[in-house]
Amino acid sequence: GHRVLSGMQPSADSLHLGNYLGALVNWVRTQDDVESFFFVPDLHAITVPQEPEALAQRTRVAAAQYIAAGIDPQRSTLFVQSQVPEHAQLAWVLTCMTGMGEAMRMTQFKDKAAKQGQDAAGVGLLAYPMLMAADILLYQPHGVPVGDDQRQHVELTRTLAQRFNHRFGETFVVPTGFYPEAGARIYDLQAPTSKMSKSAQSPNGLINILDAPKTIAKRIKSAVTDDGTQVRFDREAKPGVSNLLTILSAVTQRPVAALEAEFEGKMYGHLKVAVADAVVEALAPIRERALELLEDPTELDRILADGAHKAREVAQPVLQDVYAKVGFLPPM
Ligand code: TYM
Repeated sequence: GHRVLSGMQPSADSLHLGNYLGALVNWVRTQDDVESFFFVPDLHAITVPQEPEALAQRTRVAAAQYIAAGIDPQRSTLFVQSQVPEHAQLAWVLTCMTGMGEAMRMTQFKDKAAKQGQDAAGVGLLAYPMLMAADILLYQPHGVPVGDDQRQHVELTRTLAQRFNHRFGETFVVPTGFYPEAGARIYDLQAPTSKMSKSAQSPNGLINILDAPKTIAKRIKSAVTDDGTQVRFDREAKPGVSNLLTILSAVTQRPVAALEAEFEGKMYGHLKVAVADAVVEALAPIRERALELLEDPTELDRILADGAHKAREVAQPVLQDVYAKVGFLPPM
């Protein structure tokens, strides 16, 4: 059957617009057509230091945002990674099948390790892509809907699946990355050649799902634009305007060419107003529902416990098959 799986790290107080347009919105669109697994990768979050209470809260916030954005825990399996121990167990096996050079070539590892400094960076950062491969392969999905910054990790996952199958016999489905056409990469509003990320230089470059509508509108209206006056998509010459067009296209699901035509002869200011209105309209209801869900974490925790049970039913037999093939004695 058709199946997809994806997740977002709970490493900030809120998911941001890049997470929403690069991934979450597409999860919601496909959950009716395919069997879906969405999880909160909290094991991934501790590859950089986390405050324990903040991590627990951020994990709930991420799950609440999935639900608020439209992930239905009845239809999709929604769970937290650390509540399904098979992820860490499979990750070890895959780590032992990965070359040091292969892991060190991952650009996300290189960026993060450089940011922290050789000695401060933990080994977890290096092991991170193999944990992600385990997340995916445990559920045998055919598709992994992510933004294009995850492309290299998905490619490594495919390589590891093929390597395992070759060595131990047909075991894993080799998954394909699903990258959206519009929104695959959303850039920082203040530095539109860097991708939007929680570790933005200035908070003004970032739109969080949990930001107040006024804040969102203000940040979009003060986005950096470019020389000239024409509203035209040109990533090289007009990164700021191109980013705003990408955002508007992803939120409204209208092609960039149609937007260029609409804004022909109009000023950058008009485009900003349109983007601000569209983003506020999309995010405000999600924010409200997420805050409501977070008022009673017991209900949310119950939903997540159910999800973890459902996830384990799928993950456990896959892990057992892997363990047997590797040569581990049967489980006690
Ligand atoms: P993470 O948590 O950095 O991002 C979550 C999702 O959001 C997308 N994304 C963006 N898309 C467009 N523009 C941006 N500026 C932007 N920033 C982030 C990411 O591409 C991603 O789809 N390693 C993953 C989490 C993970 C995972 C997995 C994903 C762990 N295990 C298994 C899929 C399957 C990560 O750090 O994404």
